[in-house]
This record gives sequence, structure tokens and C-alpha cells, in this order.
Amino acid sequence: MRIAFISDIHGNFTALEAVLADIKTQDVDQLICLGDAVSLGPQPREVLDALREWNAVTIMGNHDQATLEPERCLEFEITEHLIPDLYWGRAQLSREDLQYISSFEMTKTVQFERNIELLAYHGSPKRTTHLVLATTPAEILDEYYKGQTASVFIGGHSHIQMERRHGNKLFLNAGSVGNAFKFAYTPGNPPSLLPWAEYSIIDLDGNVLRADMRRVYFDIETLLKQVKKSGLPGADWWFRQYEER
Ligand SMILES: [Fe+2]
Repeated sequence: MRIAFISDIHGNFTALEAVLADIKTQDVDQLICLGDAVSLGPQPREVLDALREWNAVTIMGNHDQATLEPERCLEFEITEHLIPDLYWGRAQLSREDLQYISSFEMTKTVQFERNIELLAYHGSPKRTTHLVLATTPAEILDEYYKGQTASVFIGGHSHIQMERRHGNKLFLNAGSVGNAFKFAYTPGNPPSLLPWAEYSIIDLDGNVLRADMRRVYFDIETLLKQVKKSGLPGADWWFRQYEER
């Protein structure tokens, strides 16, 4: 079985299109989106249409939760300066789009052969806002994953690809399609973006389990054209990201 995991698209349809074009060449059995499909980027509707068209299993991210309930956005850890973009993104969506987001699952278990169980989620299996990094202390990992029976875990949220083994558990992060961060987000330090999209393919081929961390370059000019014509309140931020390429 071969599964593509995409995450944190954040309304960047230009990046998603490039990633989906690559996935088409990869002979995958299933597409799983690990959350934060919408909010921040210029084309949230197009992103949702593509997820529906691909029949993707989509997991709920904190930005998806905040899009459904913007009055609770601080609880979902949406940074204050991003709130106008969150409301703008919500205003682009139809009632059907919002219903579709409310159907996103909190976690998804995938059973590979050889009794290998994988658990997919956004932040951690417990919360969409938990940040799991290569530097997260082992005690915190033990707390976040306590009682889990899976041996392979994959999430998003940090916007940084990761492969980390701890005991008999493998922790993966698919990275971000629409907002690949240079460094992990810390409060007070706005993230800066890398000019590519990231995603992962996991497959079990005979007796070999593989995690393929993929990087896909996309057309920045096309993205910036979409940002410019969108009327997104945070348009300037997107332009600043790609000044030094
Ligand atoms: Fe995100």
C-alpha cells in the first residue's frame, strides 16, 4: 500500500496543483490531507474543490476549526495578526464548503499489512494545536502519545518535515504544501517561507516500510498573481516572503 500525505495547504492552490501533479506520477492508493486546508492563502475554494475531486480523507487542523468557529480563534491558537485573513478566507466559502470542512476527521487510522498501524492527525493525537518537532523533549512525546497502539505516526501543523524514531515509534511530519517554514514558529517571531511545497509518501513494499519526504517546486509568480487579485488582507506578507529567492 502506498499513501500520499499532504498537509497545511493554507489556501495555496498553486502549490497544491504542483504537488497533485507529482502525486499523479507516483501510483498512490490513497490521498490523506492532515489539516489546515484553508485560511491564510488566496484560493481556499479551489483547494476544497481539489480535495473533494481527489476523494481525499481530510483531517481537521486548527485553522479549519477556527474557520468554522472564528469567534473561538484564539483558543485554536490563531495568531492575532492572522485573524483578518481567517475571516477573509471564511467569507470566500459557501455553506457547502463549510459543511465539508465540518466533516473532516480528528484522526485517521491506517492498517498496513504485517500488522503495522499508522495514526494520522494534525498536531498530535490529542490536540490540533500540539507542536511536535525534532527537538520536542522525549517526556512530552511520551505524554502526547500515551496509550496509542500505532507504531507509525504522521502529522502536520509545524510546517516542517520530520522523521524521528523514539523507542518503537516512528514520528513523521509531512511538512507543508502551501507554507513550508524555514524555522519552527515561536511566539513573537513571524515565520518565513521556503519557495517550495513539501509532502510525504509512505509505503509498505514487501517487508520494507519507507517514508519518502518530497519537495516540489511551484511557480511563485502564479501564486503572487493570485494573491494580488484576491484582496487578501495579508497580501503584503506573501510578497515579502519571496523577495529574496
Ligand atoms: Fe498550519
